Amino acid sequence: MDINHISVIAIDGPSASGKGTVAHRVSGSLGFHYLDSGKLYRLVALVATRAGVDLADEEVLADIAEHLNVIFKDKEIRLGNEDVSDIIRTETCGNGASRIAAYLQVRKALLSRQRAFRRNPGLVADGRDMGSVVFPDATLKIFLIASSETRAQRRYKQLMEKGVDVNITTILQDIRERDARDSGRSVSPLKQGSDTSSIDTTLLNITEVVNEVLRQYTEICAKNSDINEC
Ligand code: CDP
Repeated sequence: MDINHISVIAIDGPSASGKGTVAHRVSGSLGFHYLDSGKLYRLVALVATRAGVDLADEEVLADIAEHLNVIFKDKEIRLGNEDVSDIIRTETCGNGASRIAAYLQVRKALLSRQRAFRRNPGLVADGRDMGSVVFPDATLKIFLIASSETRAQRRYKQLMEKGVDVNITTILQDIRERDARDSGRSVSPLKQGSDTSSIDTTLLNITEVVNEVLRQYTEICAKNSDINEC
């Protein structure tokens, strides 16, 4: 079967906009596969940092991206024999990821790996360029937004619940820096395309956002009966 007929829901948006949680729940509701593309950038940052690689060395970083020995198994992410699921969630890995994600060669090296997640019965993918670059023919393209203050509050709560002692001012500053880097880069910048549907989540809870995405998907499916597995 032509894989381009397999449904993809692309969910893009800035840091801490809730993409991950929303995408994961939507994929669970529909029984679809799930791609958290940010994890790939975080993994490259982790491997590079551990190897003492300069995060400005595009060629070496691209080589690391190309040869990542990673297995995604349910909630576990294995790098070789090591479970790195927790370590890649740290802000250090997130900031490293945001830096290396600006390199075209790194992004190219991760492209086919991301597209390989498109399998039956469908895929929900979250990131910055899911709808614009990785799956330009996605069935539904969502762009989640929320004010930087709201996103900082969410990240603060999330980290406090995990027992990580953090400062809200530092988080807000971090989010603003990450936004500037993600939106300002020349390669695959974070920006809302004209074919995306934006949802402002500032005043919505996760369930409301999930329901809205599911509603839009059902609506598209009703109009296009040829979409696989709708
Ligand atoms: O949402 P959050 O920024 O906390 O983390 P993430 O989604 O895991 O992404 C980490 C970093 O990877 C982001 O700041 C982006 O710079 C980069 N990224 C990207 O450039 N393209 C993607 N498709 C996903 C992540």
